[in-house]
Amino acid sequence: MNPGGRKRPSAVFLSAAAAITMAAATLLFAQSDRGDYSQRNLGSLAQPVMPAPDASAKYSVGSYPLYWPELEAGEGRELVTGYCNACHSPRYILMQPPLTHDQWAAEVTKMVKTFGMPIPESDQTIIINYLATHYSQETRKR
Ligand code: HEC
Repeated sequence: MNPGGRKRPSAVFLSAAAAITMAAATLLFAQSDRGDYSQRNLGSLAQPVMPAPDASAKYSVGSYPLYWPELEAGEGRELVTGYCNACHSPRYILMQPPLTHDQWAAEVTKMVKTFGMPIPESDQTIIINYLATHYSQETRKR
């Protein structure tokens, strides 16, 4: 015993530590022996062989389901459907927040001037009125 001094680690603790160290060393050696940690496979990734396609299997994709949202009924809807769906679905209109008359006018002007859709002035007015009537803060239903 060592009365008054610091406690020594017990023999049981020391032998347990030695056993764990031995086990770890053995495990590491076994892995490096297997090639897991060797220089041999540096820079290459082992990959499984590609499975061969089954000759009897059918590979096909069905038609993509397109959701075509309905515009509110009212004067001008046909013009919107005719002109505005030439490039994109009405979803582009419906995914906007409610807009004021001026904002819809700017939107239509952008489609005409920036994106080049030739819409006669008189039809533009009807379209803008339609959009402002059904898709403004006060009137938008859904
Ligand atoms: C010549 C093709 C074309 C036509 C016709 C057209 N658009 Fe567009 N529209 C676009 C393009 C391009 C965008 C922008 C798409 C993007 O940014 O991803 C767009 C976007 C929009 C947007 C989304 C907001 C924005 O400014 O990007 C709204 C709303 C819209 N269009 C409304 C209309 C309306 C209303 C009409 C009919 C008057 C119309 N579009 C006709 C091409 C067109």
